[in-house]
Amino acid sequence: MERMALQQLNQAMQDVMRAARNRVLEKMGTQLTVAEKTSRRDLVTNVDRSNEDFLVHAIRKLDPAARILAEEGRGDQVTSMTGHVWIVDPIDGTMNFVHQRNHFAMMVGYYEDGTPTLGYIYDVMADKLYAGGPALGVTMNDQVLPAPADLDLADGLFGASAPLLIHDRFNMQRVIATSLGARILGSAGIQISQVLAGELVGYLSYLRPWDFAAGRVLAETLGLVVTQVDGTPVNMLSSGAVLVATKRARHAVLAIVK
Ligand code: IPD
Ligand code: CA
Ligand code: CA
Repeated sequence: MERMALQQLNQAMQDVMRAARNRVLEKMGTQLTVAEKTSRRDLVTNVDRSNEDFLVHAIRKLDPAARILAEEGRGDQVTSMTGHVWIVDPIDGTMNFVHQRNHFAMMVGYYEDGTPTLGYIYDVMADKLYAGGPALGVTMNDQVLPAPADLDLADGLFGASAPLLIHDRFNMQRVIATSLGARILGSAGIQISQVLAGELVGYLSYLRPWDFAAGRVLAETLGLVVTQVDGTPVNMLSSGAVLVATKRARHAVLAIVK
Protein backbone atom coordinates (compact mmCIF):
# COMPACT_ATOMS: atom_id res chain seq x y z
CA MET A 1 0.00 0.00 0.00
CA GLU A 2 1.31 3.48 -0.83
CA ARG A 3 2.32 5.85 1.95
CA MET A 4 -0.65 8.22 1.40
CA ALA A 5 -3.14 5.37 1.52
CA LEU A 6 -1.41 3.95 4.58
CA GLN A 7 -1.57 7.32 6.34
CA GLN A 8 -5.30 7.57 5.66
CA LEU A 9 -5.85 4.01 6.80
CA ASN A 10 -3.87 4.72 9.96
CA GLN A 11 -6.01 7.77 10.77
CA ALA A 12 -9.22 5.86 10.07
CA MET A 13 -8.11 2.92 12.22
CA GLN A 14 -7.29 5.23 15.12
CA ASP A 15 -10.83 6.64 14.85
CA VAL A 16 -12.16 3.07 14.89
CA MET A 17 -10.12 2.26 18.00
CA ARG A 18 -11.42 5.38 19.76
CA ALA A 19 -15.01 4.52 18.84
CA ALA A 20 -14.45 0.97 20.10
CA ARG A 21 -13.11 2.35 23.40
CA ASN A 22 -16.23 4.50 23.85
CA ARG A 23 -18.45 1.48 23.27
CA VAL A 24 -16.47 -0.61 25.76
CA LEU A 25 -16.65 2.14 28.40
CA GLU A 26 -20.44 2.37 27.92
CA LYS A 27 -20.86 -1.39 28.29
CA MET A 28 -18.78 -1.40 31.46
CA GLY A 29 -21.69 0.34 33.16
CA THR A 30 -23.94 -2.66 32.46
CA GLN A 31 -24.00 -6.24 33.79
CA LEU A 32 -21.25 -8.34 32.16
CA THR A 33 -21.89 -11.87 30.92
CA VAL A 34 -18.77 -13.89 31.75
CA ALA A 35 -18.02 -17.41 30.48
CA GLU A 36 -15.05 -19.75 30.87
CA LYS A 37 -13.33 -20.91 27.67
CA THR A 38 -10.61 -23.52 28.33
CA SER A 39 -10.35 -23.03 32.13
CA ARG A 40 -11.43 -20.77 35.00
CA ARG A 41 -8.46 -18.55 34.15
CA ASP A 42 -9.45 -18.18 30.48
CA LEU A 43 -12.51 -15.92 30.27
CA VAL A 44 -14.64 -14.33 27.61
CA THR A 45 -17.36 -11.73 28.13
CA ASN A 46 -20.17 -10.27 26.06
CA VAL A 47 -17.94 -7.18 25.68
CA ASP A 48 -15.07 -9.20 24.15
CA ARG A 49 -17.54 -10.62 21.63
CA SER A 50 -19.35 -7.41 20.77
CA ASN A 51 -16.10 -5.46 20.53
CA GLU A 52 -14.73 -8.08 18.16
CA ASP A 53 -17.90 -7.79 16.04
CA PHE A 54 -17.43 -4.02 15.97
CA LEU A 55 -13.73 -4.16 15.03
CA VAL A 56 -14.18 -6.87 12.38
CA HIS A 57 -17.05 -4.96 10.77
CA ALA A 58 -15.07 -1.68 10.81
CA ILE A 59 -11.95 -3.31 9.32
CA ARG A 60 -13.98 -4.91 6.51
CA LYS A 61 -15.46 -1.49 5.68
CA LEU A 62 -12.00 0.13 5.54
CA ASP A 63 -10.31 -2.75 3.70
CA PRO A 64 -12.61 -4.97 1.62
CA ALA A 65 -9.57 -7.19 0.83
CA ALA A 66 -9.04 -7.91 4.54
CA ARG A 67 -8.74 -11.43 5.88
CA ILE A 68 -9.20 -11.24 9.61
CA LEU A 69 -7.83 -13.54 12.31
CA ALA A 70 -9.80 -12.68 15.45
CA GLU A 71 -9.52 -14.33 18.88
CA GLU A 72 -13.21 -14.96 19.51
CA GLY A 73 -13.84 -16.41 16.03
CA ARG A 74 -15.75 -13.53 14.44
CA GLY A 75 -13.23 -13.25 11.60
CA ASP A 76 -12.07 -15.62 8.87
CA GLN A 77 -10.21 -18.92 8.74
CA VAL A 78 -6.74 -17.53 8.11
CA THR A 79 -4.16 -20.17 7.16
CA SER A 80 -1.58 -18.03 5.35
CA MET A 81 -0.19 -14.52 5.69
CA THR A 82 -0.66 -13.76 1.97
CA GLY A 83 -2.41 -10.48 1.13
CA HIS A 84 -4.05 -8.20 3.69
CA VAL A 85 -4.16 -9.97 7.05
CA TRP A 86 -5.58 -8.26 10.15
CA ILE A 87 -5.16 -9.84 13.59
CA VAL A 88 -7.57 -8.76 16.34
CA ASP A 89 -7.65 -9.13 20.13
CA PRO A 90 -10.84 -7.33 21.20
CA ILE A 91 -10.03 -7.30 24.93
CA ASP A 92 -6.55 -8.32 26.04
CA GLY A 93 -6.47 -9.00 29.75
CA THR A 94 -10.06 -10.17 30.10
CA MET A 95 -9.33 -11.40 33.63
CA ASN A 96 -8.33 -7.84 34.57
CA PHE A 97 -11.34 -6.45 32.72
CA VAL A 98 -13.69 -8.64 34.79
CA HIS A 99 -11.96 -8.42 38.18
CA GLN A 100 -10.23 -5.04 38.14
CA ARG A 101 -12.10 -3.01 35.54
CA ASN A 102 -8.61 -1.78 34.69
CA HIS A 103 -5.38 -2.83 32.95
CA PHE A 104 -6.82 -4.23 29.72
CA ALA A 105 -6.21 -3.33 26.09
CA MET A 106 -7.66 -3.62 22.59
CA MET A 107 -5.22 -4.66 19.88
CA VAL A 108 -5.15 -4.82 16.10
CA GLY A 109 -2.20 -5.72 13.86
CA TYR A 110 -2.12 -5.39 10.08
CA TYR A 111 0.27 -7.41 7.87
CA GLU A 112 0.72 -7.11 4.10
CA ASP A 113 2.01 -10.35 2.59
CA GLY A 114 3.47 -11.17 6.01
CA THR A 115 5.18 -7.78 6.43
CA PRO A 116 4.35 -5.97 9.71
CA THR A 117 2.57 -2.82 8.47
CA LEU A 118 0.28 -1.19 11.07
CA GLY A 119 -0.31 -1.82 14.77
CA TYR A 120 -2.67 -0.52 17.46
CA ILE A 121 -2.58 -1.09 21.20
CA TYR A 122 -5.16 0.84 23.20
CA ASP A 123 -4.78 0.87 27.00
CA VAL A 124 -8.45 1.57 27.56
CA MET A 125 -8.55 2.91 31.13
CA ALA A 126 -5.33 4.93 30.84
CA ASP A 127 -6.64 6.26 27.49
CA LYS A 128 -3.32 5.63 25.75
CA LEU A 129 -3.46 4.69 22.06
CA TYR A 130 -0.20 3.43 20.56
CA ALA A 131 -0.42 3.45 16.76
CA GLY A 132 1.65 3.29 13.60
CA GLY A 133 4.10 1.15 11.71
CA PRO A 134 7.45 1.10 9.89
CA ALA A 135 6.41 3.53 7.12
CA LEU A 136 4.85 6.07 9.49
CA GLY A 137 6.61 5.80 12.85
CA VAL A 138 4.81 5.27 16.17
CA THR A 139 2.57 7.73 17.99
CA MET A 140 1.00 7.66 21.43
CA ASN A 141 -2.18 9.75 21.41
CA ASP A 142 -0.96 11.49 18.23
CA GLN A 143 2.42 12.45 19.73
CA VAL A 144 5.51 10.91 18.14
CA LEU A 145 6.85 8.17 20.40
CA PRO A 146 10.66 8.15 20.43
CA ALA A 147 12.56 4.88 20.29
CA PRO A 148 13.35 3.69 23.82
CA ALA A 149 16.97 3.58 25.00
CA ASP A 150 18.75 0.30 24.25
CA LEU A 151 19.12 -0.67 27.93
CA ASP A 152 20.63 -3.92 29.11
CA LEU A 153 18.65 -6.46 31.15
CA ALA A 154 20.59 -5.48 34.28
CA ASP A 155 19.53 -1.84 33.88
CA GLY A 156 15.77 -2.21 33.67
CA LEU A 157 12.55 -3.85 34.83
CA PHE A 158 11.40 -7.01 33.07
CA GLY A 159 7.82 -8.06 32.31
CA ALA A 160 6.75 -11.68 32.53
CA SER A 161 3.66 -13.79 32.81
CA ALA A 162 3.11 -15.37 36.22
CA PRO A 163 3.16 -19.04 35.04
CA LEU A 164 6.58 -18.69 33.41
CA LEU A 165 8.01 -17.20 36.57
CA ILE A 166 6.28 -19.55 39.05
CA HIS A 167 7.35 -22.66 37.13
CA ASP A 168 10.75 -21.20 36.23
CA ARG A 169 10.22 -21.92 32.56
CA PHE A 170 13.13 -20.82 30.36
CA ASN A 171 15.20 -20.02 33.45
CA MET A 172 12.87 -17.06 34.10
CA GLN A 173 13.89 -16.73 37.73
CA ARG A 174 17.48 -16.04 36.68
CA VAL A 175 16.31 -13.64 34.00
CA ILE A 176 14.41 -11.71 36.64
CA ALA A 177 17.25 -11.90 39.17
CA THR A 178 19.54 -10.35 36.56
CA SER A 179 17.11 -7.49 35.88
CA LEU A 180 16.09 -4.70 38.28
CA GLY A 181 12.87 -6.59 39.07
CA ALA A 182 9.79 -8.35 37.73
CA ARG A 183 6.54 -6.68 36.68
CA ILE A 184 3.48 -8.88 36.07
CA LEU A 185 0.29 -7.21 34.89
CA GLY A 186 -1.88 -9.84 33.16
CA SER A 187 -2.18 -8.06 29.83
CA ALA A 188 0.35 -8.76 27.09
CA GLY A 189 -0.81 -5.62 25.29
CA ILE A 190 -0.19 -3.31 28.21
CA GLN A 191 3.14 -4.90 29.06
CA ILE A 192 4.31 -4.67 25.45
CA SER A 193 3.23 -1.01 25.41
CA GLN A 194 5.43 -0.53 28.48
CA VAL A 195 8.39 -1.92 26.51
CA LEU A 196 7.53 0.55 23.71
CA ALA A 197 7.51 3.40 26.22
CA GLY A 198 10.86 2.35 27.73
CA GLU A 199 9.29 1.42 31.09
CA LEU A 200 10.37 -2.23 30.74
CA VAL A 201 13.48 -3.55 28.97
CA GLY A 202 11.63 -6.65 27.90
CA TYR A 203 8.61 -8.91 28.21
CA LEU A 204 8.40 -12.69 27.87
CA SER A 205 5.22 -14.74 27.85
CA TYR A 206 3.55 -17.65 26.13
CA LEU A 207 1.46 -15.82 23.52
CA ARG A 208 -1.01 -16.47 20.77
CA PRO A 209 -0.92 -14.51 17.47
CA TRP A 210 -3.45 -11.86 18.60
CA ASP A 211 -1.49 -11.28 21.81
CA PHE A 212 1.59 -10.00 19.95
CA ALA A 213 0.53 -9.12 16.36
CA ALA A 214 0.03 -5.40 17.09
CA GLY A 215 2.96 -5.23 19.51
CA ARG A 216 5.35 -6.75 16.99
CA VAL A 217 4.60 -4.05 14.40
CA LEU A 218 5.07 -1.23 16.90
CA ALA A 219 8.09 -2.74 18.67
CA GLU A 220 10.03 -3.45 15.48
CA THR A 221 9.28 0.07 14.24
CA LEU A 222 10.96 1.43 17.38
CA GLY A 223 14.09 -0.72 16.96
CA LEU A 224 13.03 -3.30 19.54
CA VAL A 225 13.24 -7.01 18.77
CA VAL A 226 10.47 -9.60 18.76
CA THR A 227 11.52 -13.25 18.56
CA GLN A 228 10.70 -16.62 19.98
CA VAL A 229 12.45 -17.40 23.23
CA ASP A 230 15.10 -19.47 21.39
CA GLY A 231 15.94 -16.45 19.22
CA THR A 232 14.24 -17.76 16.07
CA PRO A 233 11.69 -15.62 14.16
CA VAL A 234 8.07 -15.55 15.32
CA ASN A 235 5.37 -17.10 13.16
CA MET A 236 2.23 -14.98 13.05
CA LEU A 237 -0.03 -18.00 12.70
CA SER A 238 1.23 -19.98 15.67
CA SER A 239 1.59 -19.64 19.43
CA GLY A 240 4.81 -19.73 21.41
CA ALA A 241 6.97 -18.13 24.05
CA VAL A 242 7.59 -14.67 22.62
CA LEU A 243 10.19 -12.14 23.74
CA VAL A 244 9.80 -8.40 23.10
CA ALA A 245 12.91 -6.54 24.23
CA THR A 246 15.62 -4.02 23.61
CA LYS A 247 18.51 -5.44 21.58
CA ARG A 248 20.81 -5.53 24.59
CA ALA A 249 18.21 -7.09 26.89
CA ARG A 250 17.45 -9.70 24.24
CA HIS A 251 21.10 -10.66 24.05
CA ALA A 252 21.26 -11.08 27.84
CA VAL A 253 17.94 -12.99 28.04
CA LEU A 254 18.90 -15.43 25.27
CA ALA A 255 22.19 -16.19 27.03
CA ILE A 256 20.27 -17.04 30.22
CA VAL A 257 17.40 -19.07 28.75
CA LYS A 258 19.75 -21.34 26.76
C1 IPD B 1 -4.06 -12.96 27.88
C2 IPD B 1 -3.27 -11.84 28.53
C3 IPD B 1 -2.26 -12.41 29.52
C4 IPD B 1 -1.32 -13.39 28.87
C5 IPD B 1 -2.15 -14.50 28.24
C6 IPD B 1 -3.15 -13.93 27.24
P1 IPD B 1 -6.57 -12.49 26.94
O1 IPD B 1 -4.94 -12.44 26.88
O2 IPD B 1 -2.57 -11.08 27.57
O3 IPD B 1 -1.46 -11.37 30.03
O4 IPD B 1 -0.45 -13.90 29.82
O5 IPD B 1 -1.28 -15.38 27.57
O6 IPD B 1 -3.91 -14.99 26.69
O7 IPD B 1 -6.95 -13.93 26.91
O8 IPD B 1 -7.01 -11.79 28.15
O9 IPD B 1 -6.92 -11.80 25.65
CA1 CA C 1 -8.64 -11.38 24.32
CA1 CA D 1 -4.86 -11.53 24.57
